[in-house]
Order: sequence, then C-alpha cells, then structure tokens
Amino acid sequence: MRSGEVFMTQAELADVIAARAPAKVNLYLHVLGRRADGYHLLDSLVVFAGEGDRVEAAAAEDLRLAVSGPFGADVPAGEDNLVLRAARALAAATGQPARGAIRLEKQLPVASGIGGGSADAAAVLRALVKLWNVSLADGELAGIALGLGADVPMCLHGRPVFVGGIGEDIAEAPALPACALVLANPRIPLPTPQVFRGRTGPFSASGRFEATPRDAAALAELLARRGNDLTAAAIALVPEVATVLDALSTTPGVLLARMSGSGATCFGLCADLPAAQAAAGVLADQHPGWWIAAADIVA
Ligand code: C5P
Repeated sequence: MRSGEVFMTQAELADVIAARAPAKVNLYLHVLGRRADGYHLLDSLVVFAGEGDRVEAAAAEDLRLAVSGPFGADVPAGEDNLVLRAARALAAATGQPARGAIRLEKQLPVASGIGGGSADAAAVLRALVKLWNVSLADGELAGIALGLGADVPMCLHGRPVFVGGIGEDIAEAPALPACALVLANPRIPLPTPQVFRGRTGPFSASGRFEATPRDAAALAELLARRGNDLTAAAIALVPEVATVLDALSTTPGVLLARMSGSGATCFGLCADLPAAQAAAGVLADQHPGWWIAAADIVA
C-alpha cells in the first residue's frame, strides 16, 4: 500500500471484525517420536496468554493486508504472509472470492516459539468465516488450519489444550488453577525447523494429567516433573536462551521457568497477574533489551 492511500473506505470501516491472536505458550512440550516425513510427534500442554497480536478484517473489493505494531517490520507483508495464505486457503475451500481488507497489529516477536504467525492465521480464519458468513463442516476449518502449519489448529481453540500428533490432535485440558505468566524473549529469532533438526537423545513419554492442580504452586510442581524437549537444541543455536531461563528462575515470584515451543521466548509461571507484572518489572530493569510481557492465561 502506498503511504497516504486510504486503506478502508468509511463504508468498509462500518463492519470491521476484530479477532485476537493470543500468544501460545507450551507449559510443557515432550517430543514422543519422529515421522518418516521429518515432522515430530508431540505431547504438549498449550495455553494462551492475554497478550497477543490483533487482527481486523473488513469487506473490500480485493484482498489486502496492512501490518503495523512494534514487530510489524519483521513480518513479510507479501503473498507468503501466513495471514494472506490463510485467507486464500479459506476462500479456495469455501468457493468464496478471496476479498477483505485485513489489518495485522504485531505485538509479539516473530519466530519466537509463542505462535505468532500461527495465531495470526487462526485469528484471520475466524474473522473471515464471520465476514464472509460461510459455514464449514466440523473439522473442515481445522483441516484448513493444519494445511497452514502444525500450530494453527491449536491456535483456533485459544483455550488450554493437550496437543498430540504433529499438532493436529487436540484435547481439552483439565481446568487450570489461577496463575499468570511473565514472558521474556532476547529479541533473537529462532527458526523452528532448525531447532527440531538439532534435537537429539531419546524420545519422551506423554506427560498428560487429569486432575486440576489445587493452585499455581501445585501446577509448578507438576510441570517441574515435565520439560521442554527442545530446550537444549534451542540453546545450542541461541545461547541467550539459557541466560533468559537463568534470569527468570531467579526472579522473585517466578514459580517455574521454561522455554515455550522452539524458543527463544521463555516464560515464568507466577501465582497471579500482579506477581507476573512485578517479575516483568524486575526483568525489564535488568535486561532493557529484551521483550518482556506479563499476561493472564485465557481460561
Ligand atoms: O508446520 P510448521 O510450518 O509450523 O512447522 C515448521 C517446521 O517445524 C516444520 O517444517 C518441521 O521442521 C518442524 N516441526 C516438526 N514437528 C512438528 C511441528 C513442526 O518437526 N510437530
């Protein structure tokens, strides 16, 4: 889009559908095996944070994307943007013309293990289903989502889930106790395929559990007996991940420190949002160059 050009007309603005694209956080992530095609079989407890990107879609004659926000410059705005690919995939599956003026506000660092592009793709699918008023058979949207990336189906859910398969097998998780997260990223992108390729050692067993831990401390204790099997591979590529984990684990109020997804974002589990905000303040003072956020978990 040229600067100065009107992105949406007044009429188009009248019907803007907004969708949140919350950060995805893997509270634990076990790698159970590897398929012949190179994809890994996972077992993960995934939650969504009250912090994320924002997507808006409005009617338009063609398909366009405008990207803004603190990390907007790190996102390709062209045809390979996952948001545009998601719109085209939904259009193809439903026989709709691919039309819509989409705005993406990037609040989350890219290539950082917290969903980012996958969350944006899921959000745009949800927004365009409403905007185009299309109905899809059960599982059809999930199929479109999986075609866009292994993490997109879980992002469609947006609530705590156990994830299996390569990301497509999604089951409701037990209710989690009240708790909050502090997220920290050293602002170094870490491409997922490289991290998976670097993983070595035996595969893990599933870590699923059934009962709701009684409080955040009990959840931290339960998670401490699980792990993120991609941590060593991520640290080998970006040693700063170890620094982030050390800093989080020694910050007051942090009950458990762990990397999310393939990194480099790590999280600290805290008892509540004020504790997470206090931890974020301490970390920001010590590491002014990092991206740091405190967030609730979406129940
Ligand atoms: O599906 P997506 O494009 O998000 O995955 C990016 C890369 O991450 C894949 O190409 C693969 O190398 C790796 N990956 C994997 N196993 C998964 C998910 C992703 O090996 N379950």
